[in-house]
Amino acid sequence: MLDVSKIREDFPILSKKVYDGQPLIWLDSAATSQKPRSVIQSIVDYYEGFNANVHRGVHALSIESTAAFEDARQKVADFIGAESSECIIWTRNTTESINLVAHTWAQENIHAGDEILVTALEHHSNLVPWQKVARDKKATLRIIPLAKDQSLDLSEIDTLINPRTKLVAMVQKSNSIGTTNPVKELAAKARAVGAAVLVDGAQSVPHMPVDVADIDCDFLAFSGHKMLGPTGIGVLYVKHDILERMEPFLRGGDMVLEVSYEDASWNSLPWRFEAGTPNMAGAIGMGAAIDYLNGLGMENVRDHDIQLTKHALDSFKELEEELEIYGPKDPALRSGVVSFHHPDVHPHDLGTVLDRRGIAIRTGHHCTMPLVRSLGVPATARASFYLYNTNEEVDALLDGIKEALRYFGNGAGTAG
Ligand code: ALA
Repeated sequence: MLDVSKIREDFPILSKKVYDGQPLIWLDSAATSQKPRSVIQSIVDYYEGFNANVHRGVHALSIESTAAFEDARQKVADFIGAESSECIIWTRNTTESINLVAHTWAQENIHAGDEILVTALEHHSNLVPWQKVARDKKATLRIIPLAKDQSLDLSEIDTLINPRTKLVAMVQKSNSIGTTNPVKELAAKARAVGAAVLVDGAQSVPHMPVDVADIDCDFLAFSGHKMLGPTGIGVLYVKHDILERMEPFLRGGDMVLEVSYEDASWNSLPWRFEAGTPNMAGAIGMGAAIDYLNGLGMENVRDHDIQLTKHALDSFKELEEELEIYGPKDPALRSGVVSFHHPDVHPHDLGTVLDRRGIAIRTGHHCTMPLVRSLGVPATARASFYLYNTNEEVDALLDGIKEALRYFGNGAGTAG
């Protein structure tokens, strides 16, 4: 179990007051998480103590920054059970990681007549790149549809995954409605027909134990800023034997071994995929975030998420006549996110009332426009939880929603 009051002391921003002294209630961690002091301090230490370009200097500071940068890479590898730190490529974020695969591996491995399979829950970043690959390559993009409870409808999965399938690209945990997908089972089906597997771990890696060997995926993409780390640093894990055969993405400094005016040869892994000066401070900050998460234990982080989600779903029952709440009802099949909609109250109005109470949620389509449209609404209100949130904050959310319904919802049954 997490000691949440102790954890909260590590996050300076959580003592902030907004407007006329309302304590900040941060329920927008799916957009970006807040940062503990140790992560902030690791970035300060880097800039104050050993700021220098990596892999490029014989001087003391470059040796120090290179060691810290590569140490952070090893922490990432260990955190997700990767076979080697050579499989970890630093990127800017999940979006860039997925685009890297679309611009390299997919160019060599997707051909006319092939099929790429995604789910109806995808964030735009795991949909739009595959639309382009499918169009360019004359391949077909297929979608695993949703069941009534907004989990995946797997009734036709053995037709959807077939010998033409070359890639199954799927989100592990929906940023929009919280559904957790059975990626291990789907990866096994993909393996059986020889398809590659990409997992979008942007919302899962920060919230639950994720092990690439256990899932048996070829690619895993995630971002530092959603898991207590800084913005501008992300990760692409690629299985070693696939990475060895992949063409570089960006070309330039540090990714080369030998260069003549006519030609170039490539550096070893993983640097072959990291052209130009990387985000050293970001990588080091991400290493500090992983230390923090390891200190808590990812099982405990996941259990806390599930407990908060259960508390939210139980509390929201009071409003179930009025609010549509999306995603599976079982907190074990979804967590960290509660997305909802009221027919008479626009999510932006709801978000504004909550904001005046110091409660930050996200409203809109959450970069999942096809999914939100399929729910029959233009937008939803989304509360997303993390390891520093409490049941009392969930209760404050409920009170705030009731207030918004009093203002905007024709008063129907919402007095409280
Ligand atoms: N993908 C982020 C979210 O879900 C930005 O809010």
